[in-house]
Amino acid sequence: MLAYLNGEFLPLENAQLHVSDLAIQRGYGIFDFFRVNERVPLYLEDYLDRFYRSSAIMGLEGVIDRPALKEVVYQLIRRNGMQEAGMKLILTGGYSPDAYHPVKGNFLVSQHPLVLPTAAQVAEGISIITYPYRREIADVKTINYIMGVWLLKKMKEARAADVLYHRDGIVSEFPRCNFFLVTRQGTLVTPANHILHGITRMRVLEVAPSACPVEVRDVRLEEVYEAGEAFLTSTTKGVLPIVNIDNRPVGSGKPGPVTLALRDLLRQRERAELQKSHQVQNS
Ligand SMILES: Cc1ncc(COP(=O)(O)O)c(C=O)c1O
Repeated sequence: MLAYLNGEFLPLENAQLHVSDLAIQRGYGIFDFFRVNERVPLYLEDYLDRFYRSSAIMGLEGVIDRPALKEVVYQLIRRNGMQEAGMKLILTGGYSPDAYHPVKGNFLVSQHPLVLPTAAQVAEGISIITYPYRREIADVKTINYIMGVWLLKKMKEARAADVLYHRDGIVSEFPRCNFFLVTRQGTLVTPANHILHGITRMRVLEVAPSACPVEVRDVRLEEVYEAGEAFLTSTTKGVLPIVNIDNRPVGSGKPGPVTLALRDLLRQRERAELQKSHQVQNS
């Protein structure tokens, strides 16, 4: 498996950084992650928009320009030959002489097998817990997942598949996913603030108006407990139904009809996107 590091294609096991990198010293860096399906980097432009935006906000330098980055992505797809994969872009704070001030970053692109939800999770839905926390600089995809990783033990004890953050009574997101609920009246609602703007969330918001009314606004924790349906979204999880929150069933306790309809619409949208990309490649 090949990776790309600072201008070079090399075996993934040789893609190494020095310990003085600010990512190791202070946890300072950004990343992004997209899916490769049928050798197509799905919605690549959206992920690149987010990645360049993250680097600008965090004051990080060292990433190559957009055409060069796309060339790296397509070369890795060609040379690694994986039909289905995840691809990760990482930009670190660099080899900081005083271990505090960012310098020119190290830029890495790597490809990985996809870790998808289990068939049971997709069919039956998942149980989640909630936890009082809000991510720092939430709209940037930083490499800081300290709370999410720390909460893994609590999730395991509660037999929960994920944990929903809330603060001051307002819910935001999961460590790696966005949150949606469907009210008992059938309106789709998703938090507006203190979130990473997920690409999957954006796609759901694009397709949803054909299925139901949509509201993007602050969501109170009590509303979550009263919801008719709930689900999470992410690049690897797609639309994943939530059937239990803090030991309380959501609605009927089964994946709801709006959730399933949106999951289908999202898949259709993906299918159309892949077909469009294949046509461009073949023309
Ligand atoms: C904090 C956070 N929220 C939401 C998401 C989902 O975003 P996307 O749909 O772009 O994968 C992610 C993805 O890693 C994330 O880290």
